[in-house]
Amino acid sequence: MDILDLIIKHDDRVYFPDDDSYLLIEAIDPSDSINALEIGVGSGIISMHLAKTVNHVFGCDINPYALSLSKTNASLNSINNLFLFASNIFSSLKFGALFDIIVFNPPYLPVDSTPKDLIDLSYNGGSDGGLYIRQFLKDFNSFLSPNGKAYLLQSSLYPLENTINFLNQNNFRFKDKKFINLDFESLHVFEISRL
Ligand SMILES: C[S@@+](CC[C@H](N)C(=O)[O-])C[C@H]1O[C@@H](n2cnc3c(N)ncnc32)[C@H](O)[C@@H]1O
Repeated sequence: MDILDLIIKHDDRVYFPDDDSYLLIEAIDPSDSINALEIGVGSGIISMHLAKTVNHVFGCDINPYALSLSKTNASLNSINNLFLFASNIFSSLKFGALFDIIVFNPPYLPVDSTPKDLIDLSYNGGSDGGLYIRQFLKDFNSFLSPNGKAYLLQSSLYPLENTINFLNQNNFRFKDKKFINLDFESLHVFEISRL
């Protein structure tokens, strides 16, 4: 059992929940939400937490081991409203699918080399750490319900101003809802909605 009263099985090929995962869980407000989408489920911890209060939770990952581990973990916790599928960010979603909550804890470390193993996909955010953050920001609006909220985790290793400027320029409302200072970076959760 962990502090969320969830049983979490581990697999070396899948991201193990860390400060970033827990910061997101603390930041998300699931009230009045019927459905949720998580990009990059990893062990499934965030999606399983959401599944306790949100009717339907959809979780995807590019790492097949993350999908099978999340399936196992959901089963160990008797969660039957988490639906898992393979996707490269939004690539598997049909246009018109809308979610009240969209969550993404992206790979965010600045790394110059290309990922070698599937587990590297959990960390490698491209040369400036912002590769997946930019991809997410470009597309999430198409999948957010009218009153929906998106939760995006970002490290200070990639300039927060880049995201703030994008959100301002594209008329989104946002809060830096939760943050934590660590040794070499701070982690932030942006809560994003429409004006
Ligand atoms: C930092 S881990 C977060 C895992 C989990 N959400 C958590 O907070 O503990 C990032 C996750 O995103 C997945 N991922 C990486 N690139 C992706 C992509 N292009 N599309 C979907 N998922 C991706 C990784 O496989 C990994 O499971």
